[in-house]
Amino acid sequence: MKKILTILAFLCISLVACGDKDDDTKPAENQEENQKDNPQNNDNPQNAENPENQNTEPNAANGKTLLVYYSYTGNVKSIANEFLKTVDADVLEVLPAQEGLKYEADNYAIGSALIKAIRDNPDKAESYPEIKSYKIDLEQYSNIVIATPLWWSNMAAPMQTFLFQEGNKLTNKNIMLIVSSASSGISSVIDDAKRLVNKKNLTGEALWINNSNRSEMSTLLTQWIENQKFASKMTQKLIINVSGKSLEADFADNSSAKALAEALKQSPITYKADDYGGFEKVGDLGQSFPQNNEQISTSAGDIILYQGHNLCIYYGENSWNFTRIAKIPNISKEELLKFLGDGEIEIKLEVK
Ligand SMILES: Cc1cc2nc3c(=O)[nH]c(=O)nc-3n(C[C@H](O)[C@H](O)[C@H](O)COP(=O)(O)O)c2cc1C
Repeated sequence: MKKILTILAFLCISLVACGDKDDDTKPAENQEENQKDNPQNNDNPQNAENPENQNTEPNAANGKTLLVYYSYTGNVKSIANEFLKTVDADVLEVLPAQEGLKYEADNYAIGSALIKAIRDNPDKAESYPEIKSYKIDLEQYSNIVIATPLWWSNMAAPMQTFLFQEGNKLTNKNIMLIVSSASSGISSVIDDAKRLVNKKNLTGEALWINNSNRSEMSTLLTQWIENQKFASKMTQKLIINVSGKSLEADFADNSSAKALAEALKQSPITYKADDYGGFEKVGDLGQSFPQNNEQISTSAGDIILYQGHNLCIYYGENSWNFTRIAKIPNISKEELLKFLGDGEIEIKLEVK
């Protein structure tokens, strides 16, 4: 009965049309599910007392982050956009292979059938709806944020497809979950995640956004990002001044960039730089910064720290093991060469 009320509330509050519905045919409707939607129940994801909900400690401070999201009506997309304002992350949008499907039409017939197929045969690839192909090298990410709608108490089917395909590649990563529903509790979505990825990799508590807290989404998300220990995006810009002209660069997200920004907050750094190798303007900063060396192939606008104390502004290509400091966005080799000029120059660095 409780479940019927929940579903009715969901249909009437949040969805376009309320129609007659044969509850027995709907996938999520049994007493067990019913209990999971009860906020008083221990199985509720918001209940930290429940040992099942105690995931591995939050630990998203290091490494690269990938946000994978699926959104049908736009709620999860808004959450994704808000997330990207604060956290530096690459993004993958999961898209159903079949375009234009109306999952909610005919009393949710398609959405309901997709979830039922997965529930009936969760181990079979054929149970999962096809999604559009994507190119992503999951290896490079330490943190994976999965943001998904809830469908009939479960994870939306297209996102389940993604995790069914990729789940076994997500070992040794921090996997975090953001779920958006109209009103239903998200414990079965967490169970889906546990089934599809190694549950030891799920870190922190899942974030649950629903119709009653959606207006506070930004605050809840900020709190969740802090709890997951994400490094916040550097909003300061690196200002490069040469001969009375200036350019703005976005700092990289590493301890080297943070240390340089910190030093520049105390006082600007002025140094002499000259052309080298036909691809960079390089000079000694006169002080050392921590190194986070990685193999990098440069392009115009990359600002690189070499040996901890040389700053290179790249206008051409070079591949080496060195540290990213910042990037001047959308600049061509020609524009940068014009800005820097020929031969030895004086550069003044500041933060804004
Ligand atoms: C097929 C389908 C099934 C849904 N089932 C439920 C449900 O059982 N309980 C609920 O609270 N919301 C349900 N919803 C609503 C979505 O979870 C909710 O609107 C969510 O915020 C949508 O995210 P999106 O806008 O990013 O697609 C359903 C939506 C669809 C399309």
